[in-house]
Amino acid sequence: MSTNKYPLWLGYMDMPSFLDNPITIVDSYGCTVIDSQGIEYIDLSSGIRNVILGYSEERIVKAVTEQMKKVTFVKGSSFGNEPALELAQEIQSIANISNPRMLFHNSGTEAVEASIKLIRQYSYLNNTNRNTIATLKNGYHGQTIGALSASGEEYSKEPFKPYLNGFTFFDLPQNDGDIDKLEFILKKDNTIGAIMLEPILGNGGVVEISEKYLKAIKNLCLKYNILLICDEVTTGFGRCGEWFLTNQLEPEIIIGGKVLANGYLPLSVVIVSEKIWKVFDEKGSFRHGQTNLNHPVCCACGLETLKILKEIDAPKLSLQKGEMIQTALQSLFDKRLVTSVRGKGLLWAIEFDSNIHKNHKTHKWLEKALLDKHFIVGQIDNIIFIAPPLIVNIEHINNFINMLGKCLEYE
Ligand SMILES: Cc1ncc(COP(=O)(O)O)c(C=O)c1O
Repeated sequence: MSTNKYPLWLGYMDMPSFLDNPITIVDSYGCTVIDSQGIEYIDLSSGIRNVILGYSEERIVKAVTEQMKKVTFVKGSSFGNEPALELAQEIQSIANISNPRMLFHNSGTEAVEASIKLIRQYSYLNNTNRNTIATLKNGYHGQTIGALSASGEEYSKEPFKPYLNGFTFFDLPQNDGDIDKLEFILKKDNTIGAIMLEPILGNGGVVEISEKYLKAIKNLCLKYNILLICDEVTTGFGRCGEWFLTNQLEPEIIIGGKVLANGYLPLSVVIVSEKIWKVFDEKGSFRHGQTNLNHPVCCACGLETLKILKEIDAPKLSLQKGEMIQTALQSLFDKRLVTSVRGKGLLWAIEFDSNIHKNHKTHKWLEKALLDKHFIVGQIDNIIFIAPPLIVNIEHINNFINMLGKCLEYE
């Protein structure tokens, strides 16, 4: 037996520097997590954009505990279960997809993977070769080889070649010419059966596709008989001011996750329109299932979360909090090196001049400096991300801005 003192691996983390001063989170409340030294951190990332109600939702804990006492597990590909069905009914009332059916998974990545499989089997059952999916060049869809192959973000992807075939990429539409280019791609490649997109590129820097261009993409889908998959893992369930930003498009698939179970248990959803599932009903069942499909305890967690989100009108509240954040962040424009502040609801990016890294060994230095000042934020390249929970208040934001100013003082 070996004696490795820290046999835990933190994924993306630079482990040698983490192990210089490892932080272990042992407690939490509201917007705050507490480490084993008793240090309190304001979590302006709400976990990884999932803990939207904060860390103290007793109602969810109770709902999960009660479900665990009733039935802890149901084989999802053989039986229905009450919380999963009720959750699907609740989601049906906020998702603009006609006669939907839903599959519940453990992560956004798995829901993306299931959507890729749906498109492929749909094409197979229809006896066509339309199994290619067109996705955005800067998009992010998750971590499995399938989801990575569908993503444009090179940093996560690059080491994992060879990628899966069956994906083609298009530019983020920012002008009419980009839509013409997309049409050219769709016209030329008749294997394209679906377009998958995030309405706001989350990891891609909180860049929004305008309503005009979302509609233009939908029109191209209708013109070329292409299915539309909207990946709302980050934007869905009220984080960005609507239940789903793409409801107006009536997509054939919406993918949700993160906020759905408030990060208390792993849960994601694929919402599928009748147009797709009826082909499976007629021609062959979906060859897909995994141990935790439609997990009753995770779905009970999601059900209680969604009930609370509906009671407090989460989309409206996130917009109100977003306005408060936007007003406060305006002051950052006085700071040298800040080049852009953008966001919607409770998803924000603060972009810096790329010179910001010049005096530092790691490009994550600012995230680390803010952590040292007890604020948890995200950083990719020269962008700091904040995605606070709905319970965030102006004091949290002003303190953060103050600390950010201090971290930038000597740059
Ligand atoms: C748009 C989008 N899709 C998919 C995923 C993957 O979700 P998960 O990390 O739960 O696997 C993410 C995660 O950030 C995401 O933002």
